[in-house]
Amino acid sequence: MQQRFIRGIRYLPTLPTVLAQILALLNDEKSSARDMEHIITHDQSLSSKVLTVANSAYYGFRHKIVTVRRAVVALGYEEIRNICLGASLMGFLHPSTFKNKQYAELLWLHSVCAADASRIVSNATKSCETDIAFTAGLLHDLGKVVLAAFFPEEVDALRDLMEKENLGYRQAEYAQDMDHAQIGKALCEYWDLPPQLVEGVGYHHDMHSGLDFYSVPATVHVGDFLARESQLGDSGNTDEPEVKERALKKLGLENSMLEACRAELDGRRAKIVSLWQMLLQL
Ligand SMILES: [Fe+2]
Ligand SMILES: [Fe+2]
Repeated sequence: MQQRFIRGIRYLPTLPTVLAQILALLNDEKSSARDMEHIITHDQSLSSKVLTVANSAYYGFRHKIVTVRRAVVALGYEEIRNICLGASLMGFLHPSTFKNKQYAELLWLHSVCAADASRIVSNATKSCETDIAFTAGLLHDLGKVVLAAFFPEEVDALRDLMEKENLGYRQAEYAQDMDHAQIGKALCEYWDLPPQLVEGVGYHHDMHSGLDFYSVPATVHVGDFLARESQLGDSGNTDEPEVKERALKKLGLENSMLEACRAELDGRRAKIVSLWQMLLQL
């Protein structure tokens, strides 16, 4: 039956060009702020979003930023790339178009939080590039977003099943043959995203040693765990957050380091919420 959802992916909208271009930069080691600037300036809607963000209270620059080039310089390559990615992705699958708008908004907050947490973990462990970690974190529950957007009745049925049969979230997903990680992976493949992202999304709950980029799903797994613990947003998963020992081992993440990541994320709560609010309003 999972195949039913995966087959349904063919009918989903294709990835907007600008989003595909931003994601493709991840595969290019030589990519620079110049490439990002080029993508932004060729997309009117993204240009105006970037200028709105750069001039927002979130950054609090004293002088008005009037050009994309200035915005890229002021915010830095990584920050501007993450903003563009978040703005394009959330604009593409915007909660206003969902049946359950509130859940969709909170699911995005969970995703933004997991992206930030994955970035923090990758920074601490040097397990993978921080931009890969952030992006994979942002996309990790893409399967849930797509299910909520295009199969809202099935998501309601999943909740009913959890309640009636007293099942955990993942158990209910398996029972319904709607594993969000596998659905997200199929979508990433359909969109031709870089393989690190495909694995980061597809195996963030069940990473195994046969993967080519094991450290990406392991990083996202820990980022997702920290995001769920923080209770920012709603992942839809009511199971107790658990972190897999083998992910921590793979990343060399000792208890003290995990605690430091948790504290860093906690210190960024207000920032994460305002970033999410800003991206939703663009
Ligand atoms: Fe997940
Ligand atoms: Fe999640």
